[in-house]
Amino acid sequence: MSENLIIAEGNKEEKYSTLYPQLKAIVEGESDEIANMANVSACLMDTFGFLWAGFYRVIDGVLVLGPFQGPLACTRIKKGKGVCGTAWQNAETIVVPDVEQFPGHIACSSMSRSEIVVPIFKNRSVSAVLDIDSKELGTFDQTDRIWLEKVATLFSK
Ligand code: SME
Repeated sequence: MSENLIIAEGNKEEKYSTLYPQLKAIVEGESDEIANMANVSACLMDTFGFLWAGFYRVIDGVLVLGPFQGPLACTRIKKGKGVCGTAWQNAETIVVPDVEQFPGHIACSSMSRSEIVVPIFKNRSVSAVLDIDSKELGTFDQTDRIWLEKVATLFSK
């Protein structure tokens, strides 16, 4: 694997379509999930310059902070709490255009204005979530959902 991430110029569709095959090669080339989550967080951050990008893993019935890039984050989130805990409970992606409008949103950073959380499945139950935060309102849409669900699938078994 090349050590340099290639980042496309242009719109988010072009960025994701250049990023995704590189993430696939990274994840398929390494068996350790933590190492892969660390590199995927770094590549998402490098490509898009989000506020925060990372993973929470289900450990002993709670979401525990995993590899991420960005500012300090809360370490444990219960099922049904915040955007992450709700995406886990509902086993589906949540796009939040304005975090202030999401009841129970957990503000790890006061700079976060919008967010997307995508579940990762193992044996059909949620084993982790991919969480991305933006400093701007309304950053995430269907394009992000589709591509980030593909990224999440790289971690599914
Ligand atoms: N905002 C999330 C908490 C995690 S941080 O954004 C990194 C939530 O409401 O679940």
